Amino acid sequence: MGRRNTVLNMVGFFIFAMAFMIIATEATTYTVGDSFGWNTPPNETFYQDWARNKTFFLGDELIFNISGTLMASDVSKADYDNCTKVVSGIQGSGNGTVFTATLITSGPHYYICPTDDNCAKGQKFSINVESTNSGASTLQPHHSAIAQSIGIFVALALYFVTNAH
Ligand SMILES: *[C@@H]1O[C@H](CO)[C@@H](O)[C@H](O)[C@H]1NC(C)=O
Ligand SMILES: *[C@@H]1O[C@H](CO)[C@@H](O)[C@H](O)[C@H]1NC(C)=O
Ligand SMILES: *[C@@H]1O[C@H](CO)[C@@H](O)[C@H](O)[C@H]1NC(C)=O
Repeated sequence: MGRRNTVLNMVGFFIFAMAFMIIATEATTYTVGDSFGWNTPPNETFYQDWARNKTFFLGDELIFNISGTLMASDVSKADYDNCTKVVSGIQGSGNGTVFTATLITSGPHYYICPTDDNCAKGQKFSINVESTNSGASTLQPHHSAIAQSIGIFVALALYFVTNAH
């Protein structure tokens, strides 16, 4: 194997490794409340406990598996603290409504159930969304997904081309 081939193989491997890292850092999907879903909680800290040990990043997704006539709302800190019954951002109602909210802005986010007194019963949680190491504070999921797909395709194509003898 010539020196040129060795260099090409190294370049191919490098690009392949980078594509692999992109795949490895893809978004995480969380089901809020896990198998309990989005429902009247057994105690006031249930949802905050669910969120506590998780680190959320831009592009991650929250799945709200909504029970009965309940709703999910994405509210301000003041409305969160006060359990104000505002319906905003993500919503949904009806048994089995599955709502996916993609985290597209970094910083704090506040979620409540604005139905009845469920928020006061603890159907609320806040999270802090970390930006990725690129430092971007907002995400354009569509563009980034396309860019990733193209990047991975090009990397794989190059890898196979450089390995064909
Ligand atoms: C709240 O309910 C969950 C699920 O039943 C339980 O694991 C947790 O210990 C409870 N927390 C408190 C403070 O009672
Ligand atoms: C939503 O909850 C229902 C009832 O608990 C369950 O059967 C279903 O699999 C859940 N869906 C998701 C996407 O978690
Ligand atoms: C706090 O919540 C109560 C009851 O829902 C509501 O009447 C009041 O307007 C809210 N206050 C603020 C400042 O949002």
